[in-house]
This record gives sequence, structure tokens and C-alpha cells, in this order.
Amino acid sequence: MYALNMAINVIVSAIMVLQAAFALPVTSAVFFIDSEAVVFESGDEMYTIIWSTSLPGTGWVNYTYEGTEYEVRDLQNSAVRTTDTVHSVRVPKAHLDHNAYTYSSQQIGTRRAYVAVKGRTVTSGPVEFKGYAGQEEINVLVLSDIHEDPYVAQKAVDNFTAEPDLLILNGDLVSYMTSVLKFKQILSYAHRFSGGQIPVIYTRGNHENRGTYGPEAVDIFKISTRGQYFTCSYGPISFLCLDTGEDKDDDDWTYSGLVDSTTYIAGETEWLKTLSPDEDAAYRIAVGHMPNVDNRYGFNWVPTLTALKTDLFVAGHKHRLNFAYRRQASPFPVMIDGGKTNDDGFIATMLTFGGGKVKALCYDNENNLAGEHVYEIGR
Ligand SMILES: [Fe+2]
Repeated sequence: MYALNMAINVIVSAIMVLQAAFALPVTSAVFFIDSEAVVFESGDEMYTIIWSTSLPGTGWVNYTYEGTEYEVRDLQNSAVRTTDTVHSVRVPKAHLDHNAYTYSSQQIGTRRAYVAVKGRTVTSGPVEFKGYAGQEEINVLVLSDIHEDPYVAQKAVDNFTAEPDLLILNGDLVSYMTSVLKFKQILSYAHRFSGGQIPVIYTRGNHENRGTYGPEAVDIFKISTRGQYFTCSYGPISFLCLDTGEDKDDDDWTYSGLVDSTTYIAGETEWLKTLSPDEDAAYRIAVGHMPNVDNRYGFNWVPTLTALKTDLFVAGHKHRLNFAYRRQASPFPVMIDGGKTNDDGFIATMLTFGGGKVKALCYDNENNLAGEHVYEIGR
């Protein structure tokens, strides 16, 4: 085996040396950034910056904060991650807000016990990242249920004159997660609507559980709860970001007996009970894909969300707009944000926070005002 490893290393090394010596565009043609970076909220006062490359390699982020140059690498325990095409780096929010960053990857052709063959390094241009700057009005763009059609969603989004300060992607961006390519689609949509310049809250939809890459994708975010659920805040807004799981029971035939959302949601339910209301927040918003939080695999989250003084729950999944979904089911209102409607339509929502109100403005892909509503928060 040792001889085989050495032979592979020699061959790969020879190819890399030859292409460098003769300036052959081998590595530049095959190693490149194929999904640009997105800055995701991931709890614990941290962002997770995620991007991807065409071949496996390393990843790192550079920025300067208060005169100190930082290079934060994509690590797994004590080692640099080299075998994945998706790269993720966690950085403190305080470091990135109102700052510029670059991200880089180097191709790793092969990595053995005592040697590694390294290829081309690719680096992004500087990305200017925004953050909360004390603005009186905060615009939050909410998109759910894109279901692999970002172009129709784009038409709806183009109606808004206000630039978003924050993007919420509320699940079902893709219809299944059978491979890393589906996750790269999510990254490309997140970048399309955020530019890597504003924070993104991503909640998993029921469809994003389906396929073997679904649970792997959760690990990429490096969230300390070890699930796709966390709390975060943007200025005066406190967000509770929920993973609502699938839309059918675990024993449904379509899951082949190979899922256990019940145990996962039980763990999330226990985590929810450890939280306390953010008393400093002017707005307490819960976000999750499935709207029926009164029954998540037999767990009723309404009492907990009520105890956390939730002002509004923003959900998706229904492929329509509704400002008061099942109004009697919870003390707080539940909004369905639109998303894909009919077969080829889309409704996008902009939530504007200010003056103790949350204004919802919604447009469809044919430039029609699909709806507007004001939620009075009233502290
Ligand atoms: Fe859904």
C-alpha cells in the first residue's frame, strides 16, 4: 500500500510540476470557486462564511480587525479540512460587521500520512460586509420555497426599492438534498440575494431533509447546538431560528424507515426550554419553515415560544401568503411568507422593522402588490 501511495503522489506531483513548468492551464481550468461566499448567522455571536470550489481543498478567510490581521482556517478538530469542496469558517460578528474580507482555497490533490500534493490557490476579491449601523428602519428580505427557480424569485424581489439589511431564506430552496451539488445550489441562491455583503438566516425546509446530504449539510454550519437551530440578533431584533423537520411522520413510506426526526426534534425541544426571553430586544421574531409549531412530532412549541415573548412567527411551506395563519392556535401571529405560488409564480416579502411596528410588503413575479400588513409590536 505504501508503494501505491508513493506512486500516486509521484504521478500527481509530476502532472502539477509539468503544468506549472509549461504554463499549462490545467489547474486553473479545473480548480475554481464555483459558489461564492455567503455569510450565515449561526448563533453564539458568530457568523459562518461558506463557499465552495470545484475540487477538494483547503479554505480560509482573511480580514483585518482593529489593526490585527486575521487568517481563520477551515478546521476539523486539530486538522485543516482538505477533502471537501465546501468550505466553512466561523468568525466573530464583531470582527466582520462593517469590515472587508477575502476568502481563499488551495487545491489538495492528495494527502497521505507523510506527504500532501498541493495545487492552485484561488482568492476572492475583497467583499465589503455590512452590519447593523443603528439605522432607524431595518429591512429584512424573506424568501422561502424557491424550489430550484431563483429566476422567478428574482423577478418578485426586483420590485422592492429598499435594499435589504438581512436576508432570511426560510427553507425549501431546493426540493431534495441528494448530493453536495444541491447544497451548492443553496449557496448560489443565498449569494444571489445577499452578495456575501449582508447576513443570511437559513432555516431548513422539509425538502432539505431528503437525501443523504441533508444531515451532512447541517454540520457545515458548525452551529454549537449541533443542529440547524440557534438564536441570533440584528440590532434591536432578536431571532429564534428553528429547524422544524419534515412534513410527515418518520414512519411514512417515503422515508424508507431511514429517518428519525422525532429524536432530533426532541433534542431541539430540550434546547428551546433552556432559553430565556431577550429582554433587551425591541422585536422577538421566530423563524422556521413549517408553520404548525403546535405539533412538531408530538411536541407543542407554542407554550415555549409564548414564554419567550415571541412577537411574530415567520413561516413558509404553504406556497401562499397569509398574514394570520391559524390565528387562534397561538397568542402570537404566524405569517406565511409566500414563496413559490401555483406552478410558476413567486411572492417575495420585505419586512421593515421600526417604530414598534413590523411592516410586511409583498410582491409577486409579475410586479403586482401581493399584500401588505402591519404588525403592532407594542412594548
Ligand atoms: Fe416545505
